[in-house]
Amino acid sequence: RLVFLINGPNLNLLGKRQPHIYGDETLADVERECGKLAEELRLELRFHQSNREYEIIDWIHEAREIAGGLIINPGAFTHTSVAILDALNTFDNPVFECHISNVHKREAFRHHSYVSLRADGVIAGFGTHGYQLCLRSIARIIDSR
Ligand code: DQA
Repeated sequence: RLVFLINGPNLNLLGKRQPHIYGDETLADVERECGKLAEELRLELRFHQSNREYEIIDWIHEAREIAGGLIINPGAFTHTSVAILDALNTFDNPVFECHISNVHKREAFRHHSYVSLRADGVIAGFGTHGYQLCLRSIARIIDSR
């Protein structure tokens, strides 16, 4: 019942960064809320953020060995990173891709996601609440096994 929740570049600035797009909540707020929900759902949560592509890849490799599910908001790496897609393709359990904003309502370069080629589900435009929706879905899948 271990779940990795990985956030990519610039998400450490959540709450300060373009709040009209990403909202006022900080990443610490998100971590606290997700931690609470994970406890209710009896999931063990590992919450990570990095601005470095290799660190995100290393966490995916770590998750590969031990995690029952993975939630990822790859930030701008969504639209650029074949390396993150390749790493996710080595992970056999459910992968959910989460975007705070509705990327399809935004610039054309945000409409394509490499990560979506692997993701079992994608959430975009639900704000930071999207992470909780992903957690609930993973808990359901793990419970149904
Ligand atoms: C984002 C959308 C990406 O296009 C952007 O580069 C981000 C955040 C989101 O959560 O809405 O950094 O993944």
